[in-house]
Amino acid sequence: MSRVKFELVLGLLLISCLFLRRVHGEDPYLFYTWNVAYANLSPLGVPQQVITINGEFPGPMINGTSNNNVWVNVFNNIDEPISFHWHGIQQRKNSWQEGLPGTTCPIPPGTNYTYKFQVKDQIGSYFYYPSTALHKAAGGYGSIRIHSRDLIPIPFDPPEAEFAVMIGDWYSKSHVELKKQLDGGRTLAKPDGVLINGKAGKGDNKDEPMFNLQPGKIYRFRFCNVGFKYSLNVRIQNHKMKLVEVEGSHTVQNMYDSLDVHVGQCYSVLVTMDQEPKDYFMVVSTRFSKSVLTSTATIRYVGGNGPASTDLPQAPTGWAWSLNQFRSFRWNLTASAARPNPQGSYHYGGINITRTIKLASTAGKADGKLRYAFNGLSHTDPETPLKLAEYFDVPDKVFQYDNIKDDPPAVDDENVKIEPVVLNSTFRNFVEIIFENHEKSTQTFHLSGYSFFAVGIEAGKWSPDKRKNYNLLDALSRTTIQVYPKGWAAIMLTLDNAGMWNVRNMALERSYLGQQFYISVLSPERSLRDEYNLPENFPLCGIVKTMPLPPPRYSGT
Ligand SMILES: *[C@@H]1O[C@H](CO)[C@@H](O)[C@H](O)[C@H]1NC(C)=O
Ligand SMILES: *[C@@H]1O[C@H](CO)[C@@H](O)[C@H](O)[C@H]1NC(C)=O
Ligand SMILES: *[C@@H]1O[C@H](CO)[C@@H](O)[C@H](O)[C@H]1NC(C)=O
Ligand SMILES: *[C@@H]1O[C@H](CO)[C@@H](O)[C@H](O)[C@H]1NC(C)=O
Ligand SMILES: *[C@@H]1O[C@H](CO)[C@@H](O)[C@H](O)[C@H]1NC(C)=O
Repeated sequence: MSRVKFELVLGLLLISCLFLRRVHGEDPYLFYTWNVAYANLSPLGVPQQVITINGEFPGPMINGTSNNNVWVNVFNNIDEPISFHWHGIQQRKNSWQEGLPGTTCPIPPGTNYTYKFQVKDQIGSYFYYPSTALHKAAGGYGSIRIHSRDLIPIPFDPPEAEFAVMIGDWYSKSHVELKKQLDGGRTLAKPDGVLINGKAGKGDNKDEPMFNLQPGKIYRFRFCNVGFKYSLNVRIQNHKMKLVEVEGSHTVQNMYDSLDVHVGQCYSVLVTMDQEPKDYFMVVSTRFSKSVLTSTATIRYVGGNGPASTDLPQAPTGWAWSLNQFRSFRWNLTASAARPNPQGSYHYGGINITRTIKLASTAGKADGKLRYAFNGLSHTDPETPLKLAEYFDVPDKVFQYDNIKDDPPAVDDENVKIEPVVLNSTFRNFVEIIFENHEKSTQTFHLSGYSFFAVGIEAGKWSPDKRKNYNLLDALSRTTIQVYPKGWAAIMLTLDNAGMWNVRNMALERSYLGQQFYISVLSPERSLRDEYNLPENFPLCGIVKTMPLPPPRYSGT
């Protein structure tokens, strides 16, 4: 080998070593560029204004692996400010990237902003959606998938392929029209249909197959209810579904004929293509609604022959069935999680509760207009994000801490108070939150920034002695929980993620009209170990826009 050649090879070797070291030292990056725009589409056969991302509806998938760094550069080409929220992504130490009005200024029209976050120690099925105005009613949502790292075994064989199935009820009116009605204090009529990945098959074998699958193979479907208000039941003709994962927890793998997916929830199942090779319908229909809205999507066996039967399987009726199904969901304690330690070692059932927060969801009125509330308070987003007001040390100018109490008023008052609602908390406290549903419809609640143990759902009134009915062994660790009419649900978690976190009703009408609030979790040491400082060049709005930038609040390593 000539000397020059030898030096070249040596140089290349050195460069590749450096490259490898860099890759090993830092978690990989995923870069996405999104062009957010309006398009005229007809998901229900009637033309309407829809929000697309890179021309797609639903938007493109975010496909990552635990600990990946995700950068999403969003170009806002619609005529209103917009923000995106990453539903179920925990944003460890980093509520700055929540993309909610309480944490982040929206992206003005004609500009771009890059969300930068790490999907730390997470796996599972989630989704994103626009959090501003009523934009979600126009689309702008899509799936988020976080795979396990190669060295972490998953408790089933890798499927042949996997599919995101975004399901939801849908209005053919524009979000502007719907918003006008809600702002005017009126409730909305019932949705006009149900979409499956942006389409609404009528069960008549006239639409193209959505899924072309190989006979004999196993496929994974990740269902998320991205809709407006209704719980949905999903089923596949002649096929059973094996539940494997719910919002980041690997489950005990039970077989189901159908699954109830409440608003904001994600379930992922394995389906074996072991039936006569022909077409079959995936059927999605509304639950707990006076009249049932149904849509289908066609699953085709490759090389098969024959249309799907137009005899669609029915959904179960009533909520007792749904409650029983909830009780059948169990965490697989021997399966590994995103971290190498076994999940069962958390032993959440043995930790003493330091605080019980009871939240009653009610419908009410303010100035004669319809509002929804927790404990009599109906949240409104101030122009200055709460998190920024806290960081700039001017909370008093924007909101009041602890205006919401840990107990609902003894009697529901129809008149609710509208103000920014913020609950204080003590860092690392182990808390119990009881959601009491004082309404006649099924609700789903979500807490951002965390995964919590969904320890119990029951009918009737909660009292401390109900704790003996909790699942303190293998409840799922997840990010949403449903509550049936006039019933309650209990969750438990350690408040160990510092930041400003949102609690909300996942029904868009209800959160838009105030049934949400924020929990402020601050680490007493104000340490960088617990929370990141305000990111560089973070957009500012409201009263902090013209204020001098404070020195970094958190220090240390
Ligand atoms: C998603 O990411 C996984 C893991 O990196 C990869 O195996 C898979 O092919 C990706 N899927 C798509 C549709 O990009
Ligand atoms: C806007 O996009 C450009 C590249 O297209 C990028 O360099 C810039 O950082 C983006 N701005 C923000 C605020 O993310
Ligand atoms: C739980 O996970 C383990 C480990 O991957 C697997 O062997 C087992 O079959 C799973 N158990 C159930 C009941 O799904
Ligand atoms: C929980 O509280 C009980 C009763 O106050 C006490 O005896 C026990 O030591 C506590 N357990 C833990 C793990 O702190
Ligand atoms: C809430 O937290 C803020 C910020 O740490 C603190 O200033 C305030 O005193 C707390 N209020 C209550 C009632 O604990």
